[in-house]
Amino acid sequence: MNACHQRPDTGPDVRRSEPGSDRKDETLQVTDQSQPVPLATSDRRVRSFVRRQGRLTRGQQSALETWWPQFGIDRIDEPLDFVVLFGRKAPVIVEVGFGNGNTLAQMAMDQPDHDFIGIEVHTPGVGHLLGLIGEHLISNLRIIHDDAIPALQQAIGPQPLAGLRLYFPDPWPKKRHHKRRIVNDGFVTLVADKLAPGGVFHIATDWAPYAEWMLEVMSGQPCFDNRAGEILISPRPDWRPMTKFEQRGLRLGHEIADLIFVRNDHPTELNR
Ligand SMILES: C[S@@+](CC[C@H](N)C(=O)[O-])C[C@H]1O[C@@H](n2cnc3c(N)ncnc32)[C@H](O)[C@@H]1O
Repeated sequence: MNACHQRPDTGPDVRRSEPGSDRKDETLQVTDQSQPVPLATSDRRVRSFVRRQGRLTRGQQSALETWWPQFGIDRIDEPLDFVVLFGRKAPVIVEVGFGNGNTLAQMAMDQPDHDFIGIEVHTPGVGHLLGLIGEHLISNLRIIHDDAIPALQQAIGPQPLAGLRLYFPDPWPKKRHHKRRIVNDGFVTLVADKLAPGGVFHIATDWAPYAEWMLEVMSGQPCFDNRAGEILISPRPDWRPMTKFEQRGLRLGHEIADLIFVRNDHPTELNR
């Protein structure tokens, strides 16, 4: 059985060791103290995130109250109908882990002929993005406030995606935390199941060991072709807006890697 035919299982997947890192692990200490929208966290799967401290600003709170009913997706336990959701038929792109949402808001405004769904667990980020949606009246963008794994599994499909974007996912640099890295065989198989043939899986990272890890994971995936061919790392696309974590990485002197994979027509277990 090749990796493309494995059933999506995004549990622990420690692929290989990597020298220890002194990058500060900021995400570990913490709890989110204000959550107007409940998160589904009942199962015991290893997660790619921990709840982060962060009170909502007044503006974020107000944006959540004002705009969530119109732009938030409440239920992830049944497949979304994109035509009903957006009121039109257009290619749909998902961004996983949009952070503060500045980049996603910009991309949605730059590509008005596409529809976008952002998935994020961090409540202040959701509030911030809702504020931008309200300010700019971004009609081609919706938000899921939940873990991307169950959201993709349950809410996306059978209508396929045109793209999935994953920008600067938490690198979990310490070896004992590698099992938390969102890019693993199970996640990538899940992405393959949700993308249409020709659909694009675009990852960016500023953490070189994670870029290597991603390339190793993707090399085991017959469902994807690397758009950069043997060079492996794509030039940074002009159209990709700078993200907050990209700016931080650049400040720290890190190199940015864009990894762009195109879904081929190799079948997966779930879409054969
Ligand atoms: C390092 S930040 C990057 C944020 C943004 N993409 C950027 O480049 O500025 C990673 C983000 O992914 C989110 N995240 C991590 N795992 C997630 C998951 N399973 N589902 C949804 N969001 C997730 C975190 O809450 C965090 O906001």
